[in-house]
Amino acid sequence: MSNYLHGYSKEEQDRLLHQAEMTENTIYQSIDFSDAKHVLEVGSGVGAQTEILLRRYPKLNLTCVDLNESQIEVAKEYLKGRPHCHGRYDIKKMNAEHLDFDTQFDGAFLCWVLEHVPEPKKILSEVRRVLKPGSQIYITEVMNSSFFLDPYSPHVWKYWMAFNDFQLEQAGDPFVGAKLGNLLLSQGYKNIYTKVKNWHFDNRKPQHRTKFLSYWKDLLLSASDILVKNNCVTEEDVRMVSKELNEVGRNPDAVFSYSFMQAQAEV
Ligand SMILES: C[S@@+](CC[C@H](N)C(=O)[O-])C[C@H]1O[C@@H](n2cnc3c(N)ncnc32)[C@H](O)[C@@H]1O
Repeated sequence: MSNYLHGYSKEEQDRLLHQAEMTENTIYQSIDFSDAKHVLEVGSGVGAQTEILLRRYPKLNLTCVDLNESQIEVAKEYLKGRPHCHGRYDIKKMNAEHLDFDTQFDGAFLCWVLEHVPEPKKILSEVRRVLKPGSQIYITEVMNSSFFLDPYSPHVWKYWMAFNDFQLEQAGDPFVGAKLGNLLLSQGYKNIYTKVKNWHFDNRKPQHRTKFLSYWKDLLLSASDILVKNNCVTEEDVRMVSKELNEVGRNPDAVFSYSFMQAQAEV
C-alpha cells in the first residue's frame, strides 16, 4: 500500500472524517444491523464509519481491522473522544486477506475498501469464513465511470482518467462497485442484492451542490501529490483542475452527478 492513492497524511485522515459525515445519510439508508451484536468492520481507516455504526446501533460491538498503523492510531484517538463508543470496539492491525479470527461475527461492513485491494475475492472469502450462518455483509463501493460534471471541464476529465488509471496500475479497481454481485456470488454468498445510489445536484438543491463540489474537489486533490510524483499529471494540470472546479462552483447552472454501488448478501 506504499502507493495508496489517497495517502495517509493528516489532511487525508481529516478528509475521511468529513467524507463519512457528508455521505452518512445516503450510505446508511440501506444498512440494517439492528439484529447484529458483533460485527466485523474491514478497512476501518480513521474510525469514521466505526463512530457512525456505534451511534446508529446502540447494541452493537465492533471488531475493526486495518492494514495501516497510522490510521489505527488516529481512529483510537478519535473514538476516545466519543463516549458512546467506549468499550464497544476493538481495532486490530491486520490484512483482511488473512483474518486471524474463527467463525465468530454476525455481520460485516466494508466501505470504500475493495477499490484499493488487489484481490477482493480473497477478502470476501475470508470474511465469509468468519461470519456465522445467516449473517449479513454490507459493502459500499465506487463506480467511477459514473462521474458527470457540467459545464464540461476538460482538465478535470483528464485528471479523473489519470486518477482511475493510476488506481488500476496499483492493482486497485475504481469500477469495483459494478462487480460486487459477481464477486459475492463467486465466493458462495446468497440472497445478494445490489443497489445503485446516486448523488445528483443541480439548481433544485444549490446548497447541497456547493457542499458536494467542495467535497469532490478535496477527494480529487487528495491524490494530486502521488499523481504528480508518478508523472501521471503535471503541477499545471492540478492548478487547472482547481480552477475549473472553482468555476463550476460559481456557475449558477452547474450539474454534479456520481453513482456508487451498495451490496448486501447473506452467509
Ligand atoms: C478509503 S479508506 C476507507 C476507510 C473507512 N472504511 C471509511 O469509509 O472511512 C480505506 C482503508 O482500507 C484500508 N485497507 C486497504 N487494504 C486493506 C486490507 N487488505 N486489509 C485491511 N485494511 C485495508 C486502508 O489502510 C484504509 O485505511
